[in-house]
Amino acid sequence: MSTLGDEMLDKIGRAPASAEPEPAWEDDDGSVVGPSSAVPSTVDMVASLAPQGTQIRPNGVAYHPRSVAGVFEDVALLRSAREHQEHVLFYGPPGTGKTALCEAAFAQDATDGHDGMETIVGTVDTTAMDFVGTFLEDPVTKTWNWQPGPLHLSVLNDVPLLVDEIALIDPRVLSVLYPLMDGRDVLRFPMNPQLEPLKVGPGWFVIAAFNPDVPGARMSEALRDRFEHHIEVGTDWELAENLGVAKDIVAVAQNLDKRRRNGDLTWSPQLRSLLAFARHEQRRGREYALANLLGKTPPEDRDEIHGVLTKTLGEEIDRLQLGKQVES
Ligand SMILES: Nc1ncnc2c1ncn2[C@@H]1O[C@H](COP(=O)(O)OP(=O)(O)O)[C@@H](O)[C@H]1O
Ligand SMILES: [Mg+2]
Repeated sequence: MSTLGDEMLDKIGRAPASAEPEPAWEDDDGSVVGPSSAVPSTVDMVASLAPQGTQIRPNGVAYHPRSVAGVFEDVALLRSAREHQEHVLFYGPPGTGKTALCEAAFAQDATDGHDGMETIVGTVDTTAMDFVGTFLEDPVTKTWNWQPGPLHLSVLNDVPLLVDEIALIDPRVLSVLYPLMDGRDVLRFPMNPQLEPLKVGPGWFVIAAFNPDVPGARMSEALRDRFEHHIEVGTDWELAENLGVAKDIVAVAQNLDKRRRNGDLTWSPQLRSLLAFARHEQRRGREYALANLLGKTPPEDRDEIHGVLTKTLGEEIDRLQLGKQVES
């Protein structure tokens, strides 16, 4: 699986050298970086982002790294972004590999005390307390104990914070993150005056993910602007095949995905659904797996997807239904 490194070097070898000197630019702290002679070459940059290879996630399943911008490896890039406190925003449909990538990159730092990263899954009801923490009453002792939220834990343990479905969270709530993301503040606990403010360490940064097509998704300009990397995540169709999904199903899913992107469909099966399909096909046969896939399809897309599946695969499919009493 480690051909990516060779591919990278190959690409770099072919990258045209820039004749014009690049201008210097200003870094976040106001210092001037450059001029271009001080800027490492692309070869150096890629070397410092050496591919990390297959990673084993906490559930024991292998993560196969993917490329970003054709030359970088996703795990290496994410780890490097953390080193520089550059927050990363992923967008794309669910089931394409966002959480798996974050786990692959950071779960290895887990200790007895933490999992290597903290996660919060946003909803329209998420509050600042859900981020920072709150007091909970112990039903036995009747005492009130501080229950740290994922933001508190991530700063305390100096690990990344993954904010999933960030676009569903009220922008006013998210402003709790802004000063910390700007690297200029400490985390305060107005709810718990006993806790000293916590300084943000060098290992803390924010990774966020959202699905732009979900109803109600919104990202304020202030928030979007604080992310330095904006990376679209879609399904890697070749990976799906390598992970055991039948070729003809992958081809259909790829075609449906094109139609989703064009706006003809609201949904199409991504990697998670395809892996589930492969498992069902292996355990219960293709007919069951197809019927189940059709059952999973949102009602507004069902006729369309039914048509494509029937036409392409040449099979009569009906969505999974509980039927009559089984004769005993
Ligand atoms: N690069 C990869 N290598 C192996 N499995 C992957 C990879 N990317 C995603 N997966 C698998 O695909 C499924 C969906 O990924 P997940 O990270 O949960 O998606 P998302 O967070 O985008 O909704 C998971 O079962 C995950 O293990
Ligand atoms: Mg996820």
